[in-house]
Amino acid sequence: MATIFYTASSVDGFIADPGNSLSWLLTRDVDPSGPMGFQALQPRIGASVMGATTWQWLLDHDEVGALGEARTFVLSHRAFDLVDGITFTSADDEAALREVHAGVVAAAEGRDVWLVGGGDLVGQFADLGLVDELWVQYAPVALGGGAPLLPRRLELRLEEVERNRDFAVARWSVLNSATLTR
Ligand SMILES: NC(=O)c1ccc[n+]([C@@H]2O[C@H](COP(=O)([O-])OP(=O)(O)OC[C@H]3O[C@@H](n4cnc5c(N)ncnc54)[C@H](OP(=O)(O)O)[C@@H]3O)[C@@H](O)[C@H]2O)c1
Repeated sequence: MATIFYTASSVDGFIADPGNSLSWLLTRDVDPSGPMGFQALQPRIGASVMGATTWQWLLDHDEVGALGEARTFVLSHRAFDLVDGITFTSADDEAALREVHAGVVAAAEGRDVWLVGGGDLVGQFADLGLVDELWVQYAPVALGGGAPLLPRRLELRLEEVERNRDFAVARWSVLNSATLTR
């Protein structure tokens, strides 16, 4: 099983614009069953992890259902309303973050873990060698600012690169990953 950061980005490396909007992304053409489309990942996911801003975006846009059956963990210090299948937690030091990751891996029951974002949260896991792969769908737009894709220095190896309609899509393995087991 692997811990995978799967996301879409602008070509200048932002996953949301400065107003936290995804309109630049959701208006583009993509084939979900095409190369590195979501249907390639979804059956592999046993659990997913996200930060509070991403969770709030899903709530605000009535998109919680898009998470499917996977157990979901939300990292936050905020008091969100409880939702079935969603675990709210926080991790303010390395030990706590390792514990969260172990809990997510256990919940995934042998399947993969989807890191939904944002970028700094993924970076926190990457700092501990707990991210195995990056899958990025690049939309044909530069945003000039917003929420960063992955604000860390990380060595990667390109594994796959394709076109999916409007998107340039690529998959990398993370070279310092301590967790990849296949
Ligand atoms: N392009 C895409 O495909 C895509 C994918 C995912 C997300 N997005 C968007 O990108 C944006 C990401 O926002 P963001 O960069 O602010 O990231 P985020 O990770 O969604 O949210 C950041 C917040 O998560 C909480 N958090 C992070 N690490 C934590 C930890 N270790 N322990 C406890 N809480 C922690 C903190 O909230 P507290 O205030 O609760 O402490 C922090 O302010 C959102 O607008 C989202 O909708 C886009």
